Amino acid sequence: MSLFRKKNVEHMIAGAQAAGLKKALGALDLTFLGVGAIIGTGIFVLTGTGAVQAGPALMLSFIIAAIACGFAALAYAEFASTIPVAGSIYTYSYATLGELAAWIIGWDLMLEYGLATSAVSVGWSGYLQSLLSGFGISLPVALTAAPGALPGHETLFNLPAFLVMIAITTLLSVGVRESTRVNNLMVAIKVTVVLLVIAVGAFHVTPAKWHPFMPNGWSGVFGAAAVMFFAFIGFDSVSSAAEEVKNPKRDLPIGIIASLGVCAVLYVAVAAVVTGIVPSAQFANVSHPVSYALQVAGQNWVAGFIDLGAVLGMLTVILVMAYGQTRVIFAMSRDGLLPAALSKVHPRFATPFATTWLVGIVFGLIGALVPLNVLAELINIGTLAAFSMVSIAVLVLRRTHPDLPRAFRCPGVPVLPVLAVASCLFLMVNLSAVTWIAFVIWLVIGMLVYFGYSRRHSKLAHGQH
Ligand code: ALA
Repeated sequence: MSLFRKKNVEHMIAGAQAAGLKKALGALDLTFLGVGAIIGTGIFVLTGTGAVQAGPALMLSFIIAAIACGFAALAYAEFASTIPVAGSIYTYSYATLGELAAWIIGWDLMLEYGLATSAVSVGWSGYLQSLLSGFGISLPVALTAAPGALPGHETLFNLPAFLVMIAITTLLSVGVRESTRVNNLMVAIKVTVVLLVIAVGAFHVTPAKWHPFMPNGWSGVFGAAAVMFFAFIGFDSVSSAAEEVKNPKRDLPIGIIASLGVCAVLYVAVAAVVTGIVPSAQFANVSHPVSYALQVAGQNWVAGFIDLGAVLGMLTVILVMAYGQTRVIFAMSRDGLLPAALSKVHPRFATPFATTWLVGIVFGLIGALVPLNVLAELINIGTLAAFSMVSIAVLVLRRTHPDLPRAFRCPGVPVLPVLAVASCLFLMVNLSAVTWIAFVIWLVIGMLVYFGYSRRHSKLAHGQH
């Protein structure tokens, strides 16, 4: 039974009420929050991979991924708003599903956030290099990408990806967090850049390039949807803000649907434009596909602006993900499930300084040494698994704790959470076998750590919660 030991829900709720976060966010703020966290490497870089896989039908892949995210986000929002404690689903699941499930979700999130920082730094590197080449500057090829990432070239280490991770780690370790003002500025930059791609690119589209629409059939479309799911990751930030929302019942679903909807519309339009300019197969191994399409169209100035906007805009995605990563580790360590040293706070900066540097260096090296596609699939499988568990948790919680006050209730229970689980599982089965193997290995290691260490060191087990 100890596997199901739980933190006390009522205590957590009382603690959160005492902490009293300001309820200041409305639907529009939430939409900005979401769009800021969502637009990044997915649209700017993975679009190339997706186009190779799905052809112009990449547009459909984006829609499929967005729908799956919508279901998951609504279920997630109920979970996040029931136990209004600032933190991630790791914390919520500890109180409701018990220690083992919380461990699995936390272990999963460590993979998701950590690898996401690596993946976005690889995307950043592609755009930085494109920007620099506009000024005639190029790095030695060996330092431009991970080994094997550029067939036909001898690449060893993605130096810009590693360096940007070190820069972000430096900021985080001294306590820099993204402010609302910075987020709003980044949203403005990213949306402007994407609109520029659509507006200028549209004039260079030749509809003939949209034929054949589905060169690899539905399997290509679904496979690309499973990869492009990455482009929507970050939508969970809207749900996580539940306790700071003025009118969660109304504003949360609007914020979730609006941020996903805005991004989906932008993504579909970008997919239409880039596949209408460049034959899809030509995107193989292009590390900056969106600006590349504009270069092919002869719009070098516009391509330069896109490079610049992408380089600026992706920085905030790395920062947000890296922040999430350190805070999940911090919470797990504070609960005794990971060694106490990982939640040591720096006396001057008041941040988990050593942990921030440890993960910054580890995931910086991963970004420098592992190709982006491999990273993206792994992140997706981890995230999809976590979201399936959360959707199941919503159903369980309605039965076990029917009377808990819920700031936001997921509509259409049980159908909608079931659809969320089904669509997450559907995308998961469309990921490659290698990804599944790596994911299972990660879970097995997680189980070994849990049964070998965490279970005995859990503070809850020692009555310290
Ligand atoms: N959705 C985020 C991105 O595309 C993770 O970079």
